[in-house]
Amino acid sequence: DGPLTVKELADKMGREVSEIIKKLMFLGVMATINQEIDVDTATIVAEDFGVEVTEVEPAEDPTEIKEIEDAPETLQPRPPVVTIMGHVDHGKTSLLDVIRQTNVTAHEAGGITQHIGAYMVRYKGNKITFLDTPGHEAFTAMRLRGAQSTDIAVLVVAADDGVMPQTIEAINHAKSANVPVLVAINKMDKPGANPDHVKQQLAEHGLLPEEWGGDTIMVPVSAKKRQGIDDLLENILLVAEVMELKANPNRHAQGVVIEAKLDKGRGPVCTVLVQKGTLRVGDTIIAGTAFGKVRAMTNERGEKVKAARPSMPVEVLGLSDVPQAGEIMDAVDDNEARTIAEKRIEKQRVSEMQKTHKVTLDDIFNQI
Ligand code: GTP
Ligand code: MG
Repeated sequence: DGPLTVKELADKMGREVSEIIKKLMFLGVMATINQEIDVDTATIVAEDFGVEVTEVEPAEDPTEIKEIEDAPETLQPRPPVVTIMGHVDHGKTSLLDVIRQTNVTAHEAGGITQHIGAYMVRYKGNKITFLDTPGHEAFTAMRLRGAQSTDIAVLVVAADDGVMPQTIEAINHAKSANVPVLVAINKMDKPGANPDHVKQQLAEHGLLPEEWGGDTIMVPVSAKKRQGIDDLLENILLVAEVMELKANPNRHAQGVVIEAKLDKGRGPVCTVLVQKGTLRVGDTIIAGTAFGKVRAMTNERGEKVKAARPSMPVEVLGLSDVPQAGEIMDAVDDNEARTIAEKRIEKQRVSEMQKTHKVTLDDIFNQI
């Protein structure tokens, strides 16, 4: 159970409150009768009195959405989610543009392609979802929230520039997220391109190329000349196949916010990567403290979609507020959303207050 007061603990154990307070004092905890003590402390006290403590399921947190475990038989194959990472200007966006142009069907809706930083492309009958990371902040934010959004990282390194600070950062991110890395050695068309030097540098950072006996696939490409793209995509699919990525599409949707902004005309707009279940127009959703009903969804080509299955990125309209990138999005019951959102706002308020009102020993001494 959660924390309880000294009185409650005494009652539970059938002991006098004074006995408990004495014991707490002995443990160095000064407590009064109605003071709350944490579970660990209560456990120590109880055990000291020879009372057996049974582990109780932690109380449900009203601000959390209960995680449901999907049975193995409900899981179905899903496309891989690939994050493009790398140093500034090494060609992440150019590479994505080329991948899209060679694969996205020629007739785009109204000729307008919305830049939403997340795209699903079709390649030889397979789907691949790409996330373009403008910076690593979103990636880090997602990981901090425990949302593993990426299955495979494609590290873009310019062949003429080599390994740079953000290249190393990206390697470390992928490592700590335990995500396999595939290297695209870009700008091969440039006169100064030196792929062997890049490989040497990468080897120094723990990525040993396959052809040198390691297990990192490194594909030379040129986004500008559109070379090596097929090779890159084939290798992505190869890595994905080994991973046997699956999710249950038949449950309430859960996903992660890739980016969000306030649009003057349309209100809060957020790009969500669906990870489990199917997100549908009309669903009630909550992301952080923002909530609402999905009014409309569009894919990366600006086409309206009614449903989004696992690994599909969609732009969602209908939230009350702009959620933060990396926030988890859940489809919930109609009547739940507002209550949960309000409790989350309250929790946020309390923790902010605690932050500003925390009294330190120094403060006390300074007053004396
Ligand atoms: P940020 O998003 O700012 O981190 O950059 P990025 O990694 O997305 O790089 P971007 O795709 O914007 O490309 C940066 C510059 O490199 C642009 O001027 C591109 O035209 C150029 N560039 C990208 N790929 C190639 C390539 O294969 N060959 C050559 N020669 N230039 C390239
Ligand atoms: Mg870019």
